[in-house]
Amino acid sequence: MLAAMFAQRQLLFLTRAGFEGDCAAQVQAVAAEAGVHGFCKARADTGYLTFIAHDADALAEWFETLALDDLIFARQMNLAGEPLEDLPPDNRLGPILAAIEGQQFGGVHVETPDAEATRPLMRLCRKFTKPLEQSMRKRGWLYPGKPDLPRLHLTFVDSTTVIPGVSHPGQAAPQPMGIPRLKLAKDAPSRSALKLEEALITFLSPEERKDLLRAGLEAVDLGAAPGGWTWQLVRDGLMVTAVDNGPMAEVLIGHHSVEHHRDDGFTFRPERPVEWLVCDMVEKPSRVADLMADWMAHGDCQRAIFNLKLPMKKRQQAVMDAVERIADRLEDAEVPFEISIRHLYHDRDEVTAYLRRV
Ligand SMILES: C[S@@+](CC[C@H](N)C(=O)[O-])C[C@H]1O[C@@H](n2cnc3c(N)ncnc32)[C@H](O)[C@@H]1O
Repeated sequence: MLAAMFAQRQLLFLTRAGFEGDCAAQVQAVAAEAGVHGFCKARADTGYLTFIAHDADALAEWFETLALDDLIFARQMNLAGEPLEDLPPDNRLGPILAAIEGQQFGGVHVETPDAEATRPLMRLCRKFTKPLEQSMRKRGWLYPGKPDLPRLHLTFVDSTTVIPGVSHPGQAAPQPMGIPRLKLAKDAPSRSALKLEEALITFLSPEERKDLLRAGLEAVDLGAAPGGWTWQLVRDGLMVTAVDNGPMAEVLIGHHSVEHHRDDGFTFRPERPVEWLVCDMVEKPSRVADLMADWMAHGDCQRAIFNLKLPMKKRQQAVMDAVERIADRLEDAEVPFEISIRHLYHDRDEVTAYLRRV
């Protein structure tokens, strides 16, 4: 168990600004399921929230088993201590070093919520990281990548207040703030290419990606135009059937790995089963969920990555309803499956799901 580094009584979660309520609702539900009593403190559009438990030991025990994958709307999380307030702008390092004195870490993330008020602090976080790491190393408190050592999180909520926290190695998002730094390639047909890339690095380990996305495998892309997702899959070596009434980008027209079908994504089916189904059609989540489950129940694909476009209200409920529809259909068909759902950095009013046969 993570040592009592600070008086830990709360979990801190980063989320997309505007989704604090959805994230809180889910944290509350998962905590209740684990028998941990407490409440969430969230303010709209701040990009973060905390869960405060009545019993610190129960909280720490729950955190041991908690995975970011369990929480759709959380981008980052840590077991947090009391905020360090009134940090002097000319020496923020001093009080922070005093608070972590003598403890050892395998890594450190300096973070801030991704919201309008705190976005300017991202520069401070980047500038602060190097000197902090150097100071910690010099004192023998930082051993980068050493297994078993926790990661230190320092979350600046304003320029003079930081919340210190910890997570187990591999437990929190590997990138600070859970924001992957992905660059759009010049010839990518659309920014959506980044969305699929983020989904692939989130849901698959590098080994799985090598094994599951390679030459010789086939994919169907429903709602493919202009072709960001198709382009991404083709880059990994797959043959792609792109289904959309709209036109594909120039770079994909006549491409030897792409077959464009001007068809309705809700009626199209491949002649033989494919490994991958991907779907980015803008449709009601229930309709997309039914379609994905139907493909899988018929054995038309092994795995699917798809977006569920969210309604304005009760977003968490809409996602849960979609999952229930998928579960009902696949349980009826006796198809064992797993599903992971995350609100990715490149998702706006949607979440991304990874459904697979197991
Ligand atoms: C958000 S865009 C997809 C972007 C694409 N993933 C990319 O990376 O470039 C949604 C696409 O779904 C298509 N679409 C919507 N309903 C469809 C349907 N019933 N059948 C096929 N395509 C559909 C639209 O024509 C549109 O091109």
